[in-house]
Amino acid sequence: MTEVTEGAMEAAKAAVAEKDWTDARRLLAPVVAENPNGVGAFMLARAELELGRPDIAAPLVAAFRAWRPRHVGARVLAARVHLANDQLDEAEAEARTALELDPEAPAPPRLLDRIAAARAVADAERHLAVVNEQHVAARATGPTPELLEAARALQRCEPGPDWTKDPRQATIAYFHHAPDLEWALRNYDAHLVDISTRFDYVAWPKRIQQYVRGKSVLDVGCGFGGFGMGFLIAGTRSYAGLDPAMELDSSRAKNKRLRKWADMGVTPRQIADALPAIRLFQSSSEDKSFDETFDTIALHNVTEHLMQLEEVLHGLTRLCRPDTDVVFHHHNYYCWNGHHLPPNQPAQLDVDNPRHQAVYDWRHIDALPHLPEDHYVMTNLNRVRLDELKEVTERYFDIVRWDEVPSSQATLDRLTPHVLDRVRDVVPDITERELSVNAVLGVARPR
Ligand SMILES: C[S@@+](CC[C@H](N)C(=O)[O-])C[C@H]1O[C@@H](n2cnc3c(N)ncnc32)[C@H](O)[C@@H]1O
Repeated sequence: MTEVTEGAMEAAKAAVAEKDWTDARRLLAPVVAENPNGVGAFMLARAELELGRPDIAAPLVAAFRAWRPRHVGARVLAARVHLANDQLDEAEAEARTALELDPEAPAPPRLLDRIAAARAVADAERHLAVVNEQHVAARATGPTPELLEAARALQRCEPGPDWTKDPRQATIAYFHHAPDLEWALRNYDAHLVDISTRFDYVAWPKRIQQYVRGKSVLDVGCGFGGFGMGFLIAGTRSYAGLDPAMELDSSRAKNKRLRKWADMGVTPRQIADALPAIRLFQSSSEDKSFDETFDTIALHNVTEHLMQLEEVLHGLTRLCRPDTDVVFHHHNYYCWNGHHLPPNQPAQLDVDNPRHQAVYDWRHIDALPHLPEDHYVMTNLNRVRLDELKEVTERYFDIVRWDEVPSSQATLDRLTPHVLDRVRDVVPDITERELSVNAVLGVARPR
């Protein structure tokens, strides 16, 4: 290896540890050009697979596997690549070889389960084809007996473990979790299921499924209007999304999987016009003309942006019944990437980049007194501390769940005594807990 590719390999390992696949791919390209069979090919295959390009991953992992046929990880990755390419027999053969090579390895049995789920999807293929071909016409004419039969068959299928990522498993999940068949057919939309899985809009509703399945949900600060189908896939009966920044006639939205802006191919207004279970409003929760109550109110990465946090939380009680669950995911300002700016992970850190210099390794905290009033951090982030958030919430709600989600190990490793001292020079009472917790998943009920 040359000095350049050796450096790239080290940086790529850090990117892989941080699951920053785009960066890993960029760093590994010259490594693989130099040695097409080596560990770089294995890592690049993984990155391509994670980025949704299993066809490109296939020859890379095959080259590495030919070089190291007894490498369990290579067999597992080859199985995953075959699985993603719908080559189920090949995937099963690789997973079984991995299991023979190392009967204690945890990955092969999990993979065999996923392959079984993919076989179930293959069996459901003809039903998926019928719903995907007929559902739009059926909105006006009503379902044909063939469509009803296909939807019934999908309702009986168990969704596989990848229903947040795979549109076919997501369709099965949609019908399986739906409150009833007529509703399911009237609100199904193949394009939106595809968008929801590709843009990563299903993971959050799945994570809080126990609070949203079968429920009426209000999504406060819903963003660009693309999250609704993700909730319906998790079984939400009716979804209302509101956000003052939502542009009802724009199809631009954030692809969370790629962390990029992209075209959804449909606007919020078109989504809401087509599907009765989804309503979208360019509005804020303080808007007094909005006066319904909901089973569940969800706020995903919103509480850290609310400049009038207390006013908004208090205002939510107006939209609650006594048993309403208010479910929030709060991204903590005081963690490594709490500034919401690049770099998002240590693997992306470029210490020569002046924008990174301003915020990296908790500098966004001790630099606070010097930030201009119009800086993003000052105008868009309320910088609420965790105990303050708890306290404000408890003025109006009983907190029934408060899970603190730690930051990644790569991030925690950077919290040295020197960093602690530096930050405490400016915020003397800041605790290690506050600097380490990445997010809070909270659930609250009105008092
Ligand atoms: C970081 S975004 C999160 C969007 C979406 N929930 C997601 O996870 O992709 C925060 C959103 O909160 C919205 N927001 C801010 N204040 C609000 C308010 N008072 N009522 C409703 N939404 C609000 C902003 O417009 C912004 O779109």
